[in-house]
This record gives sequence, C-alpha cells and structure tokens, in this order.
Amino acid sequence: MIEEESRSQKAQSLVSSQGNEEVDAFENTLRPKDFQNYIGQIEVKENLKVFCQAAKKRGDALDHSLFYGPPGLGKTTLALILAQELNVHLRMSSGPALEKPGDLAAILTNLGENDILFIDEIHRLKSTVEEILYTAMEDFAIDIVVGKGPSARTMRLNVPRFTLVGATTKASMLGGPLRDRFGHVERLRFYEADEIQKIIERSAKILDIHIDSEAAQKLALCSRWTPRIANRLLRRMRDFAEIRHEGKITLPVVEQGLESLSIDEKGLDHSDQLYLRTLCEKFNGGPVGLSTIAAAMSEEENTIEDMIEPFLIREGFLKKTPRGRQVTESAWKHLGLQGGRLI
Ligand code: ADE
Repeated sequence: MIEEESRSQKAQSLVSSQGNEEVDAFENTLRPKDFQNYIGQIEVKENLKVFCQAAKKRGDALDHSLFYGPPGLGKTTLALILAQELNVHLRMSSGPALEKPGDLAAILTNLGENDILFIDEIHRLKSTVEEILYTAMEDFAIDIVVGKGPSARTMRLNVPRFTLVGATTKASMLGGPLRDRFGHVERLRFYEADEIQKIIERSAKILDIHIDSEAAQKLALCSRWTPRIANRLLRRMRDFAEIRHEGKITLPVVEQGLESLSIDEKGLDHSDQLYLRTLCEKFNGGPVGLSTIAAAMSEEENTIEDMIEPFLIREGFLKKTPRGRQVTESAWKHLGLQGGRLI
C-alpha cells in the first residue's frame, strides 16, 4: 500500500504542465494511476500494456501514440498512466497553447531521453508548429531558422528520443502527414453502464463518501457513458448528501439531486431538454434547419451542433435529414408528448 502511494506520488512529480494547461485538481485525485485501476477500454489497455512492455524491454521510447474520441473518456489519464508505467517524465501541453514554433522547440529540447510529450487538442496546432513536429517525430531533430533575410540559414538540432502522445476529439481535423507519423492510433469508446457504475463506486471510495449500489447505478445511467460526467455528478451528489441529507448517497438523494440539477433519467440536461421541446412544440418535431432552431433557442449554431446534438443523435432522439433536424418517436415519448400534444 505504502509502496503504491509512493509510486503515485512519484508519478505526480514526474508530471509537468504548461502554465495555461491546468489540469483539473479534482479530476486528478480521481484519476487511476495504473492500468490495474483503469476501468473499461479493455482492448486499448491491453494493447498499451504490450507496447509499454516491449518499449521497456528494448530500453527504447514508446512509439508515438494518438488517442481520439469524445471528451472525458480518459485520454489524458492514459497518457499519465503510460508515463508511470514507463517511469519517464510527462510534459503536458495543448494545440492552442503552442503558439509559435519556438514554443514547441523549447519543450522538445528540454525533454529527457524517452520522455512523453502529451499534446491535448492536437488538431488545433498551427501549421507552422505542426511542421516542426514532423522531423521531431521522425528523426528526433528540429530545423530552426537562424538569422533573417538573405543570410537566413536552417540549422538542424537534435532532440532527445521521445514519445508524442496526441489527443483529439476531432481526428478528422488532423492532417494526413501528422496522422501518418503516429505508430499507434487508438479510438476511445463510450463506457458501458456497469463500467461507469464501477468508476463511480471507486471514486466514492477515494472521496470517502458512502454510496448505495442502486444510487451508483442510477447515477451511472445519467452520466452519458462518460467518466468525467459521472465523477462530476458524484461530486454534486456528495454536496447534496452532506448538506441536505445524512451524509450518505442513497437513491432518494440521487433522485432529488438530479431533479435539482434539471438532469433527467437519460442524462439530458436543461439545454438538451429545451432543444427537444423547441423542436417538438414550435416546429412539430421538424424537419427544421439548424439556423431556425438556433434563432428559436437564442443559442449559437456551433454550440448546438457541437454540444447538444451529438448526444441526442447517439441516444436516438434526433436525426439529421436532408431537409433539416427531426426528432424521433423516442423523443416524443421521452418528453411525454405525442404529435405535439401531451399524453
Ligand atoms: N476515473 C476516470 N476514468 C476512469 C477509468 N477509466 N477508470 C477508473 N477511474 C476513472
């Protein structure tokens, strides 16, 4: 036990991040520190274990790895676990934080042998910065321009052998040249209800709060199959339990808590419910264009398209048709409406 604690403390000290790349402290306390405690994503985990063992056996850096998938599924956590398993430092940054080629060059030249550089939202790298990565990933060298005008020269600078771990929610926005330089690409999938329940129960133990299994099960079903959302909801339920109840998270605590947060039994929040209601009540379920819905909801089109619609489509409440957005039969039922009338 003591050994495990000191191992995780060591992992923390091996992590450094860039100023504006702050990692949520709460999320950090709940992150599993090794593969054994990482629930779900079994195939990804098994592959990574093999690649880690092989890299360690050869004394080489792990191949560059790309993780893609929706937010909150554990991409950063996996990068942290890789560093821990390989016993190397992890340097964290993100696409938007690396503004100039010099920013990336400074990080690369300061890495230790076999260290991991984690770049979150890697699809948002500027092309000038991305180009530096090509030679760094392939040849462990960067080309820097010295001087200006006609006397400018390119100088090649070696950097330590390192592993780039890239994470993105939008793999399709990554250019081919960058994508092709990753030796290994993994897609993280949404979690099953029982996996989310286990994550909630594990987190509750770490937070030292009692949760009944039916309460954890209920919370799991409202967590959109996403550990980050499950852990956030758990934290809110802990607040309700400690302030309004007897300090234990029971089924009634969860039911009342979810109601206070306007989250329904399918995990739809206020915006999701408003979206479906708008479509049903103002447009008889559609089809209707995005710009019309956006105007009716006083919401931005991008917010609707990126933050609201994907989950509703995934859950079978909404379809995109050539003539616009249309709610499904399940959406009518879920809202307790039928053909625009209350049932
Ligand atoms: N917390 C967040 N993601 C987790 C996971 N996959 N396993 C265990 N705890 C987690």
